[in-house]
Amino acid sequence: MKRHLLRLTDLTDREIMDLIDRALQIKRERRLFRGELRGYTLGLLFEKVSTRTRLSFEVAMFRLGGNTIYIRPQDTQLSRDESIKDTAIVLSLYLDALAIRTYSQRLVEEIASYAKIPVINALTDSFHPCQILSDLMTVTEKKGDPRNLKIAWVGDGNNVANTWIHAAMILGFPLQIATPKGYEPERSLIPEIPSNIVFTNDPCEAVRDADVINTDVWVSMGQEGFKDEKIKAFEGFRLGRELLALAKEDAIVMHCLPAHRGQEITDEVMDGPNSAVFLQAENKLYMHQAILKWLLL
Ligand code: CP
Ligand code: NVA
Repeated sequence: MKRHLLRLTDLTDREIMDLIDRALQIKRERRLFRGELRGYTLGLLFEKVSTRTRLSFEVAMFRLGGNTIYIRPQDTQLSRDESIKDTAIVLSLYLDALAIRTYSQRLVEEIASYAKIPVINALTDSFHPCQILSDLMTVTEKKGDPRNLKIAWVGDGNNVANTWIHAAMILGFPLQIATPKGYEPERSLIPEIPSNIVFTNDPCEAVRDADVINTDVWVSMGQEGFKDEKIKAFEGFRLGRELLALAKEDAIVMHCLPAHRGQEITDEVMDGPNSAVFLQAENKLYMHQAILKWLLL
């Protein structure tokens, strides 16, 4: 049966844990997994820029023996008003899967509704499910089963925070989210928030005794017009030595990157012994292989 990955809630807890296991196995035994997607083509329809997600999907597909085509919407007839429906049907005739990075979650869901192939959300303004799957893999690699850990978020209530909320809803771990007032995650995107998820405007409260601390940029793609006001509002939410000291001694620090060093995270923490940020970037390659195999084979 054809599946899409549009939001993390498209997956069950078992499927998430299974993808983590498969990605860790691919990482351990990388030679065994070459060539399984020979003859398959993944399209990458990217309206926003990307370093990690684009490259790791491309290399993941090459390692599995398949091909990718990077598609900028402005180079297609979408830029001359060809309909979403017709575009989705035609792309389905050539491609085996389509990863989309764009602004609107609704647009990704609309394309998926017409597509005859699996559609993957490679980031929207609302969610970033592939990122949280690879981040859960990183948490598992560094600290064991994420269901037993206390996870904190410090920063903007953005697409990455929203997806951590989905992860906590599905897996049940305690998640403490600290955002400045007015920058909380949008509740309409996540209507039913269970009691294991706590919101605060105090970063110290969120990170106390945490096993994992997450942060992200203060100004996400598309929000450049709000840069000055956001930087002012987020003063006090910088992840530095003092905040880290409130977490467990062996806590890991996570940032999906790109980072603005000195803004949301200090150099000292990002390059320090608790940092897992480059492992997160590395693990996207293995998780994307696991996702592609799961959707296509
Ligand atoms: N973490 C992440 O999605 O990075 P890119 O924007 O570089 O793809
Ligand atoms: N919240 C960030 C994540 C980048 C990977 C953004 O949307 O720009």
